Amino acid sequence: MEGQAGVATGRRVLVAYATKYGSTAKVAETVAEELRAAGCEAEARSVSDAAPTAGFDAVVVGGPMILGWHKEAVKFVKARRDVLAAVPVAYFITAASLTDAGGDAVDGVPIVKDSWLANAPSRPEKLSYRQRYALPSHYLGDVLKATAPVRPRQAAFFAGALDLTKMNLFEKLFVMLLIGATPGDGRHWDAVREWARGLPAVLFGDAADSGS
Ligand SMILES: Cc1cc2nc3c(=O)[nH]c(=O)nc-3n(C[C@H](O)[C@H](O)[C@H](O)COP(=O)(O)O)c2cc1C
Repeated sequence: MEGQAGVATGRRVLVAYATKYGSTAKVAETVAEELRAAGCEAEARSVSDAAPTAGFDAVVVGGPMILGWHKEAVKFVKARRDVLAAVPVAYFITAASLTDAGGDAVDGVPIVKDSWLANAPSRPEKLSYRQRYALPSHYLGDVLKATAPVRPRQAAFFAGALDLTKMNLFEKLFVMLLIGATPGDGRHWDAVREWARGLPAVLFGDAADSGS
């Protein structure tokens, strides 16, 4: 921990987030809070603030799955691809379902899965359409294609929150029938905080030598 605090000290990190119904904002703020506790100068900003990315030592981009990664998260990365291709980047994705058929990387990008979200299929060799849809390789594979050439050093999947009272009929049908989502607040702060505590090492590449 000591070594990690050392490399994190004074590093400026932007945690940019997109949200449709608000719940991802607090995930981003929690990530920023942990980064500050590790010694970074971190701030969480909505992508709709059009925050400048220049001047940051690293950028974390987060957003929910809303028929693909929130389009504002994708737009944010694409619009700043030159800056983001030149600094360490991490992504996080909030979601209502995730199939965990094994594997800890998608197209070479290491992934972290909130264990409350990840569902291990009983028959990995015969996944249903719904299970295949919620595979990390599907969710993140599309994100990586859409945001290339930016390449995150890591991507985390966290359980989000689903408030049916805020949704229109189409959205309700989609999340209940296709995603098979359970309504309610599924966010697990321990999972978010644990990931964020490890981020300085991931972003600033000191994991291997911080203790020596
Ligand atoms: C229209 C809509 C589409 C969604 N699509 C997906 C999806 O494809 N996969 C998934 O796991 N969750 C999906 N969700 C669930 C959201 O990702 C989840 O509720 C998230 O926490 C919402 O974040 P927000 O409150 O920041 O908008 C969807 C939710 C809505 C309303």
